Amino acid sequence: MIHPVIMAGGSGSRLWPLSRKHYPKQFLSLHGEQTMLQETVARLDGVTNNKPVVISNEDHRFIVAEQLSQIGQLGPVILEPDGRNTAPAVALAALALQKSEGDEAVMLVLAADHVIEDVEAFHAAIAKATPMAEQGKLVTFGIVPTGPETGYGYIKAGATHGEAFSVGEFVEKPNLETAEAYLASGDYFWNSGMFVFTVGAYLSELQTHCPEILKACKASMSDVSHDLDFIRISKEEFVKCPDDSIDYAVMEHTSDAVVIPLDAQWNDVGSWSALWDVNQKDNHGNVTRGDVMTHDSHNSYVNTQEKLVALVGLDDVIVVETKDAVLVAAKDKVQDVKSIVNELKSQS
Ligand code: GDD
Ligand code: MG
Repeated sequence: MIHPVIMAGGSGSRLWPLSRKHYPKQFLSLHGEQTMLQETVARLDGVTNNKPVVISNEDHRFIVAEQLSQIGQLGPVILEPDGRNTAPAVALAALALQKSEGDEAVMLVLAADHVIEDVEAFHAAIAKATPMAEQGKLVTFGIVPTGPETGYGYIKAGATHGEAFSVGEFVEKPNLETAEAYLASGDYFWNSGMFVFTVGAYLSELQTHCPEILKACKASMSDVSHDLDFIRISKEEFVKCPDDSIDYAVMEHTSDAVVIPLDAQWNDVGSWSALWDVNQKDNHGNVTRGDVMTHDSHNSYVNTQEKLVALVGLDDVIVVETKDAVLVAAKDKVQDVKSIVNELKSQS
């Protein structure tokens, strides 16, 4: 039975000021009632009875434990003293599963912060992926692109393998010009950032393409301490681990990858405008959360935590109010919120 592995150690800086270092977006409820992490786990109902292995930052351990306990899904939580991106995070989970389940165990690797509306289609794609993973493939899910996004990985579909395609080419986060060319060619999918493979397949590809990461992760896992459901790894060893994503470290290089098309209204909700896209709108196209009044305003997103916020005569804006910071942005410029966060970081 498939083992869910949830990467929950990102910082979600484009959703500032709600998403913060001490409370990043995967722990917020930005879409449904539940938090993004809880939705990710709840969405697996019917796929497996195994509790998820979650990898997150040490600082967030109580948030993770509380949110998973609330939905009765607290399993092992691997704590990173400091994030080293997703290739090491997945390696830690694979090494933990290798100990208890062996090399043949199938991992379903998920991000903790995606919206997937069509859960049935998602489950069907997982069912197609599982036998291919059991044959040693690294399976990823491909989304038909709708624009030249530069924040995604692009996958060129190669020869067909039943309902999957071999990966002709995997290019993580291309520049705009390249993304535009990929989109125009019609031959590329977006990488959804979710994967299915066996423990053995991932670890052996990591050994081939990025042995330093595997070495550092093995060393970090050789000295773990268990504390309730938390698995605390060796900080001394893990800080030596190179920082790299699974996409750059493995997926761009492996020749064992296949892609399964996924049409499930997937959204990586990486920005405030994406949240406007996926949420229910009122008659004027506004999405509001909290105490909000709107007059002659359209197609805007307003999220308030503390104060009443009123919008008058404004279209296509984002307003996010929190206790100590307020964001007011043009809806088509929300990718630049990251620059404010970077500037704040450099000042602190
Ligand atoms: N444990 C852990 N440690 N988790 C991490 C770390 C880390 O150091 N860094 C990121 N994560 C988690 C994030 O919380 C998120 O759930 C997931 O890993 C993916 O990381 P992102 O930082 O959101 O990646 P991305 O969106 O830039 O790119 C990935 O996803 C895209 C689709 O959303 C790539 O896989 C792209 O190819 C893909 O298109
Ligand atoms: Mg992401």
